[in-house]
Amino acid sequence: MRGGASNASGHRATSRNLSENPPAFRVATICRVAAGSQLKLLVLGGTAWLGREISSQALAQGHSVTCLARGVSGPAAAGARLVRADRFEPDAYDAVREEHWDAVVELSWQPRMVRTALAALRDRARHWIYVSSGSVYASHAAIGADETAALLAPTDEDRAGAELYGEAKVACELACRAAGEAGLLIARSGLIAGPGDPSDRGGYWVARAARDGGAAMLVPDDGDRASVQAIDVRDLASWLLVCAARGECGTYDVVGERLTLAAWVELSRRIGGHSGPLVRAPHGWLLQHGVGEFMGEESLALWLADPQWRGFCARDGSRALGAGLKRRPPAETITDTLAWERQLGLTRPRRAGLSAAREAELIAALAAPGASRPPAG
Ligand SMILES: NC(=O)c1ccc[n+]([C@@H]2O[C@H](COP(=O)([O-])OP(=O)(O)OC[C@H]3O[C@@H](n4cnc5c(N)ncnc54)[C@H](OP(=O)(O)O)[C@@H]3O)[C@@H](O)[C@H]2O)c1
Repeated sequence: MRGGASNASGHRATSRNLSENPPAFRVATICRVAAGSQLKLLVLGGTAWLGREISSQALAQGHSVTCLARGVSGPAAAGARLVRADRFEPDAYDAVREEHWDAVVELSWQPRMVRTALAALRDRARHWIYVSSGSVYASHAAIGADETAALLAPTDEDRAGAELYGEAKVACELACRAAGEAGLLIARSGLIAGPGDPSDRGGYWVARAARDGGAAMLVPDDGDRASVQAIDVRDLASWLLVCAARGECGTYDVVGERLTLAAWVELSRRIGGHSGPLVRAPHGWLLQHGVGEFMGEESLALWLADPQWRGFCARDGSRALGAGLKRRPPAETITDTLAWERQLGLTRPRRAGLSAAREAELIAALAAPGASRPPAG
């Protein structure tokens, strides 16, 4: 990704400082509860996409769910208890600190929030699940890297800016480890997709296909070299709850099935009903014309041109599969995302992907006589 472009979670990737990845990925399952037991869960968050999905599934399974958040991002799942608190305030955990929890699910990337929660609640939780990110890794160049890869250096900031997202997630992981490896699960999620995605990334290609099935579609011409590896939000949530019930510990990359970007686009075209022509643009030309990579307004969503980022959506992921992660086929994720995209409206302004007008403009510019086309390399 060039020029500090954003990473999978919508935050800017920065330094490549290396730090050793602690050996906690070898910690075994140590705190299993009886199968079918009702769990008492505390979700630190729960008012946004993944946290609400975890809560909904947990409630459907008969668990009790308390969410602690400000309530700014949205509502908690129906049936969950929402404790409203600002986690930057000193009394944030007062309403829940006397209770005991089978599992606490922490979703924050702010070191201060994570540290204060650990100080207030860690002793009262049997199991602590930290949702981390693939953005913790120092390099994204290698295809098939696993949990042993080196990490970024943690940030010293207590309250980090979005440009330090990866470094902040590392600091949060280290804080969780420092509070005790026993009963700790760190789930490093890759790109999350599926219905409800607030980033608009995973739905771009199928929404584009469905928006105008006959019109020429702009695609990067190196789609066979780029990878997409999207974990469905429902599968991630489901696996985290399996882990909560089992007391699964250790560190896991949780990633979706790996496809080429070209295959993801083809699947999206089939599901969205696009039969018009593809117009392939060299990635140098796209970058020169200001088309964003991966995410953001007027981007080609999920596309990464920089060879140093070829591994970002191409991690190994076998460890979580071995620990029971079940992934639905990408076609199902795309189909369900299209249904959700239709509800939102296919012509709405998007947070990720090209608008119809910009796409047409780029296609016209590419076709213009004498259009300069730098080599794709
Ligand atoms: N999206 C991706 O592709 C991707 C990839 C890798 C990893 N991840 C990780 O996956 C998780 C996604 O979680 P999510 O979808 O539930 O969304 P999120 O936006 O990361 O969740 C943030 C939660 O924290 C709460 N929060 C924020 N500031 C707060 C404050 N000052 N006090 C109390 N609560 C506060 C928010 O609630 P209120 O605003 O209501 O307070 C919200 O419920 C995150 O850990 C993210 O880093 C995402």
